[in-house]
Amino acid sequence: MTALTLSTAAASGLRADAIVVGVAKSPKGAKGLSVAPGAEAVDKAYGGKLAGVLETLGASGAEGEVTKLPAPSGFKAPLVVAVGLGAEPEKDSSFGTETLRRAAGAAARALAGSKKAAFALPVADAGDVGAVAEGALLGAYAFDAYKANGKDPKARNGKAPLAEVAVLGAKPRDRAHKAAAERATAVTEELNRARDLINTPPNDLNPEAFAAVAQAAAKEHGIKVQVLDEKALEKGGYGGILGVGAGSASAPRLVKLSYTSSKAKKHLAFIGKGITYDSGGISLKPAGHNETMKCDMSGAAAVFAAVVAAARLGLEVNVTGWLALAENMPSGSATRPGDVLRMYSGKTVEVLNTDAEGRLVLADAIARACEEKPDAVVDVATLTGAMMLALGNRTFGIMANDDAFRSAVHEAAEEVGEAAWPMPLPDHLRKGMDSPTADLANIGERFGGGLVAGLFLKEFVGEGITWAHLDIAGPAFNESGPFGYTPKGGTGSAVRTLVRLAELTASGDLG
Ligand code: BES
Ligand code: MN
Ligand code: ZN
Repeated sequence: MTALTLSTAAASGLRADAIVVGVAKSPKGAKGLSVAPGAEAVDKAYGGKLAGVLETLGASGAEGEVTKLPAPSGFKAPLVVAVGLGAEPEKDSSFGTETLRRAAGAAARALAGSKKAAFALPVADAGDVGAVAEGALLGAYAFDAYKANGKDPKARNGKAPLAEVAVLGAKPRDRAHKAAAERATAVTEELNRARDLINTPPNDLNPEAFAAVAQAAAKEHGIKVQVLDEKALEKGGYGGILGVGAGSASAPRLVKLSYTSSKAKKHLAFIGKGITYDSGGISLKPAGHNETMKCDMSGAAAVFAAVVAAARLGLEVNVTGWLALAENMPSGSATRPGDVLRMYSGKTVEVLNTDAEGRLVLADAIARACEEKPDAVVDVATLTGAMMLALGNRTFGIMANDDAFRSAVHEAAEEVGEAAWPMPLPDHLRKGMDSPTADLANIGERFGGGLVAGLFLKEFVGEGITWAHLDIAGPAFNESGPFGYTPKGGTGSAVRTLVRLAELTASGDLG
């Protein structure tokens, strides 16, 4: 875990392995790059020539670009790391928080193997302090639990993540700055824990193991937890969750996490798809489509992280998290295409494709969550390949049964720097899921597959309950190289959006 401090110290006197500064592309028309605010003292120590030196080294100020150079003489730190911020903002405006988050993340990644780095980036207010802290703490993430000698950095394959981050220009005694740092620590620690869960191989993280992790964390943070095992699921009539888990040697679980605040006026329910491995079941996925399917519990990981973060931040809102955990495997006991499941809500579903399993576990959890009449329900799921085709692999889709709520979720996502986009739920796609045998089938028309999945879920939302569905199939797992504060592998998609929704609900500012 990377440590965070705020410091008003001068860059020159700081004992650190590196000083991080920002560089921006000069405005259109003007030549070259400019050193961003926050690094004035560093620039001065180079005789005011830092921009020129960086240009000589080939720097352009482009977003994510990292240039390393020896620190000026007299500095305690040996290294200066210049990170690109992209275009310089218009006069009188400042760099956006997401720009700062990404730059800090890129610098933290480039500093893997170092102990301590001081970030002298342009921080104008507490929001910027939080953004730099978040970006650095998220960028410093590494998953090496399965590398040989993972505990010994010298023997490990990769470099140890940056161990300590100091944000310069931030005042440790300023209440807003301190709160921003505390928020960044809680959110990034839980988000990084979600990444760990996503990256953990499915032979080690089955539903039972995930439930045990949730139980331990709940205990630590004063969250009430209830785990329904296969017997309790049977007794409760959770046909969707049981049907998906039927083929696996590891039985399914439904975990309920209840964070309550004595000052709460509202109640949110978050529901996560937690397929610890999605082979497709009897409708088996072909090779090339199952190698990353350990990521199919990313929704549950996000919900888990968000509930724990809400508890750590003491938000004045009640948040219930539901983790619908199952492993989707083919076997003699697996659900067959053609089987009919009796769902928790009482509806029957003809399973025509066992690879459309996420909607089945979610349907039970959504119906159950709605019984408690929360003010809003948000489910998060790596639900469809179709959403990836529509929005690519960095943007999640938002569907909802309420236009204002969908917009509010979208705004919350934008605020925290998560790319998201509203998607419709067209009524006419519902009839594609008509079944001659059951109340509905678990698949429908191929075109608009992400929306069909959303329409399926909508059938299980309680009367009069406000609901949104986040399809994070694209951004949940990064199969290409790292960028900004996003590592390869599990990303922790939707965690920050959920935390923001909880904050906005607590302060009465949602919508
Ligand atoms: N977990 C997958 C969706 C997915 C695909 C997530 C790629 C992340 C990356 C989901 O369970 C699934 O298999 N969906 C099917 C639904 C289809 C059978 C209607 C799909 O999208 O192909
Ligand atoms: Mn599937
Ligand atoms: Zn799946």
